[in-house]
This record gives sequence, structure tokens and C-alpha cells, in this order.
Amino acid sequence: MDARQPLVGGNWKMNTGPEEALELARAIIDALDADWAQRCDVCLFPPFPWLSHIGREASDSPVLVGGQDVSDKISGAYTGQVSASMLLNSGCTMTLVGHSERRHGLGESDSLLNAKVRQAIAEGLQVMLCVGEQLAEREAGHSEEVVAQQVAAGLEGVLKEDLSRISLAYEPVWAIGTGRNASPEDAQAMHRRIRADLEKQYDAPSASGVRIVYGGSVKPSNADDIFAQPDVDGGLIGGASLDAEAFLAIIQAAASSSAS
Ligand code: PGA
Repeated sequence: MDARQPLVGGNWKMNTGPEEALELARAIIDALDADWAQRCDVCLFPPFPWLSHIGREASDSPVLVGGQDVSDKISGAYTGQVSASMLLNSGCTMTLVGHSERRHGLGESDSLLNAKVRQAIAEGLQVMLCVGEQLAEREAGHSEEVVAQQVAAGLEGVLKEDLSRISLAYEPVWAIGTGRNASPEDAQAMHRRIRADLEKQYDAPSASGVRIVYGGSVKPSNADDIFAQPDVDGGLIGGASLDAEAFLAIIQAAASSSAS
């Protein structure tokens, strides 16, 4: 019943210079010309200034390009913000919303993130909504309710017919950039819970179509085990996505998980 194609995102964050970015993108684009790559969707999330270059570079390839963030506003006097239509015009088809470095690092609220999700899908982008508990919440045994609340708040008002535009990234905050990943079993349990909540909020067929990827210290050495979990549909990769060889090995792990 599950026909979810795995999805692997490369979140470059505030890294790379112009040439390095292009080189990295080219290495991924060239390698994904292979047959195995058709079993996995790949989206690069470069810094905003490189988007149109990389968007152009990727335009005839299966590699998708996305924004690391998007404004909740259509246009206007919002200094420093980037709108959904600007992303679309730069060759993006997707955007991250609610990455922990914005949610927790910059204090973006659930209601702001929900407004971003709604604006992005209204303008035709796909959204990868990031959720995840902090260490103290985990230690207090509250991980599931924290994540359930973030998902419900982030998707408030999102209609069932728009759910196909959404993917979720479960990224425990304590695992991001720390080298310490959630165990495959813990990731599976959280993903299963998220899917069960989506089933209640929408319905089973819609919930079973939503890709829920895991993020937080995914590397070639742990990717197979994490992606083998039935409700883990790929990954959102930070550090390892800056190294073409490591990122490609992770994509290959996701592609093989869909073949099994
Ligand atoms: P990491 O980052 O792979 O470096 O842990 C993941 C993310 O921030 O999306």
C-alpha cells in the first residue's frame, strides 16, 4: 500500500561560496543521471544568493531545488524576506519551513510557520515542514506530544487536497549537527506516531501518501539502518550534504530502501 518514493534533501545552511556551490550542485546533478537515482527524489537547499544559478543548472535534471525558508507574505515592505514567487522564479519547487535553526534559533512561532506553509502552498510550492523536540523535552518524556503539537499547528487549515504538497522532516533538535542521531527504532516510532496523527486529522489514504523524512546527523554509515524503517521516507541532510560523495552515498541508501 505504501508507494512513497523516498526524498532526500541537502540543506546547505549558510555554507558554500559561489563556485563551491555550483561545483557541489554539478557533482550531484551529474551523478543522478544513473538508473538507481530514479528511485529517490533529491532536493538541494542552497543559500538564497545561489538559488537562480543552481536552479538553472538543475533545470534539465531530476534534481529539485528549494529555499531554506520562505516569507509568509506575498510581497511588499518586508526587508530581508524572500517570497514564494521569488523562489519559484529562481527555479525552486520546494521550501523548508520551520527548520530548528529558525524555529528555535530565531524564535519563529507555530503561527508564523503555519502562515508560511499556507502561503507557500497557495503559491504552488511544495513544503517540507520541519519538526522536532529539544533535549530537555525529550528527557522529560514529552517528545511525542511536542512533535504532535508542532505538526498539528504547522498544518492548521491545510486542506486534504493540499496534503500532497507537504512532506515532514522529523529532526530531533539534539541530533542536528551533533553527530548523535536518533536510533532507527526511535525515529520509526516518532514517524509512525506522526502518520497516525495525520490519519486522524485527514484520513488513512492521505496520511499514507505523506513523506516523513528523518534529519539529524544522517551520514553514510547510519543511513541504511534509518531508511530501512517503514515510516522513514528519506532524510534531510545538513553537514553530510556539503560533501558530494557522502551525500550521494546517502541518496543511494534511500534509493535502495525503496527497492527492498
Ligand atoms: P545535520 O543537519 O545533518 O548536520 O545534523 C540536519 C539538518 O539541520 O537538517
